Amino acid sequence: VLGIGELYIKNDTLNPTGSFKDRVVSVALSKAKELGFKVAACASTGNLANSVAAHAAWAGMESYVFVPSNLESAKVIATSVYGGTVVAIDGNYDDVNRLCAEIASEEPEWAFVNVNLRTYYSEGSKTLAYEVAEQLGWRFPDHVVVPVGSGSQLTKINKGFNELYKVGLVNDQPNVKVSGAQPTGCSPVASAFFSGAEFIKPQKPSTIAKSLAIGNPADGVYALDVVRKTGGEFGSVSDEEVIAGIRLLAQTEGIFAETAGGVTVATLKKLVEEQKVSKDETVVCYITGNGQKTVEALAPSSEVTATIKPNLEQFSALLQDLRS
Ligand SMILES: Cc1ncc(COP(=O)(O)O)c(C=O)c1O
Repeated sequence: VLGIGELYIKNDTLNPTGSFKDRVVSVALSKAKELGFKVAACASTGNLANSVAAHAAWAGMESYVFVPSNLESAKVIATSVYGGTVVAIDGNYDDVNRLCAEIASEEPEWAFVNVNLRTYYSEGSKTLAYEVAEQLGWRFPDHVVVPVGSGSQLTKINKGFNELYKVGLVNDQPNVKVSGAQPTGCSPVASAFFSGAEFIKPQKPSTIAKSLAIGNPADGVYALDVVRKTGGEFGSVSDEEVIAGIRLLAQTEGIFAETAGGVTVATLKKLVEEQKVSKDETVVCYITGNGQKTVEALAPSSEVTATIKPNLEQFSALLQDLRS
């Protein structure tokens, strides 16, 4: 449909809690246990909260997760079900993150996976590169498109490709263009890329892609650097394009992605149209979260095709109508 000869979807919608965050949390909390931390915690835009609460339940740790108060209801429900403490903060993710950094310095026994354990947490995203190379038959793709919130995942995918070459599991040196995807309503890294800036100017987020609504991204400059050094691109897409991206993926591949996935697909489409992704490249599009968690984004534009009485006459009439 997009006109790319070889396009693969790395589908992380089917992980235990429905997003790539299970990768980073399993590394961080394994390390937290080893280091003797007692409480699992995080600042989250939703998916991380789901995963920390679930992994903590399994590991027998107490959990405290902190989220912005405007989070999608499925993300709140899919966190609280695991029995930990869910604290909504009257503010955006950047406010939540700032508060968590303060709490982390007050509570030495708390493992904030993406604050004081961030170095371990981020390494978990390297598996997104390892698996892609393995699944391609131990070769690298030419181009990957990755959603950007804090920027951590993007930088570690690039690191993962380089490590595979270093340890000799892939013979050819990686030459993977790494491109970033952001929603226009929260696109501080894309904006820096477009303007040629060296630094990220924080932005107040306003987007339906709440998982990517990080206005002051911790790894933004590193993501910018990776995209520039690998010859990648950035795309920023409107909320309408995000919804169209979710529908396109669902209707062509049968994969229901959350809004971050809509951002990635819409960005890829844009990059192809702008000839920034070439049609003869092997491309991997990272779909990092499940659409069942962000149904609010589609609700206003989704309805049943028709409502009829339970009889064959009405159905026959409907069918005729639909087919004419
Ligand atoms: C589904 C999903 N995709 C992508 C991201 C962005 O990841 P990062 O913050 O590592 O850039 C997030 C962040 O929460 C997310 O939930």
